[in-house]
Amino acid sequence: MIDGQHLSSSRRMLLSFSDDRRISEIQNDKAWIDYPRSEEVFRMVDNILAVPDRNQAPCLLVYGEGGTGKSSIVRKLQSFKRFSDKLVFVDLTVKPDGLKFPELIARALGVPSGLIKYSRAQPDGLPAELLNIIKLRKIKGIVLDELHDAFLVPRNEQHRNLSLTKGLSNAPYGLSVLGFGVASAHASLKSDNQLYRRFNMIELCDWSDSDDFRSFLLGIEGHIPLRKPSFLDSEEITGFLLERTGGRMDSIIGMIRAAACYAIKSGEEKISINLLRKAYSSPWGY
Ligand SMILES: Nc1ncnc2c1ncn2[C@@H]1O[C@H](COP(=O)(O)OP(=O)(O)OP(=O)(O)O)[C@@H](O)[C@H]1O
Ligand SMILES: [Mg+2]
Repeated sequence: MIDGQHLSSSRRMLLSFSDDRRISEIQNDKAWIDYPRSEEVFRMVDNILAVPDRNQAPCLLVYGEGGTGKSSIVRKLQSFKRFSDKLVFVDLTVKPDGLKFPELIARALGVPSGLIKYSRAQPDGLPAELLNIIKLRKIKGIVLDELHDAFLVPRNEQHRNLSLTKGLSNAPYGLSVLGFGVASAHASLKSDNQLYRRFNMIELCDWSDSDDFRSFLLGIEGHIPLRKPSFLDSEEITGFLLERTGGRMDSIIGMIRAAACYAIKSGEEKISINLLRKAYSSPWGY
């Protein structure tokens, strides 16, 4: 068999690179493999953004435990040309510059960071100037990664951040809030029933033994520059991966990457159970 037949032609090219270069390709790989849940998210975003009446814009929360693939979906959304004008993106991970929720939203929407602030005159914190910008730039939605961080704050700040979220999705702004976070974000939204009812929910779960999982693994295998096929979708390998990782996305990807590096260093050029075992006990030991 010719080396790398199982790879796409662009990945097969990498087989001519040095071992070190291939290892660095594997560890830095940002390859994206579609799977049914991610496709569901993209479809829902398309449909939500197409809704013409935006008095109470439809919103979306994608929630799941750490490492289930939320930020990767956000990055993929960011890469789609069809969304680039319509969506703005905010990462709410606590920042070293200490910017808080309203300031991060202001910055993303392109208004001075002090402009969104709470007062009796603007209880949701939103100034009139914001409307011009949203209409002028034809912004339809705001993507908030790590949304739970906006709600894991003292109670009155949490309340304000919920009001701001609601304000953005209300007329006249009509922005669809597309949030990504852990389950506590879901619980926080529930505390405001009116806001909660605007949200469509998609939960990202761990992988289980299924055809979807096997085709995802084949997709991953097609990106890893090893000379021989590993048959990651075999019963033995899927069973081992699920048993050791509980089906968590980031652990699965990490284990496969480490095993692939072992496969290059040892010259085996394919991922085996033995190498997965090594990857599990010493992920950086190749
Ligand atoms: N569709 C995909 N194709 C290939 N790799 C993926 C995919 N989705 C996620 N991954 C990999 O899984 C890992 C974890 O994903 P990600 O960081 O998106 O999880 P998360 O849910 O945002 O985690 P956290 O809650 O810790 O922020 C990443 O290293 C990423 O490369
Ligand atoms: Mg994340």
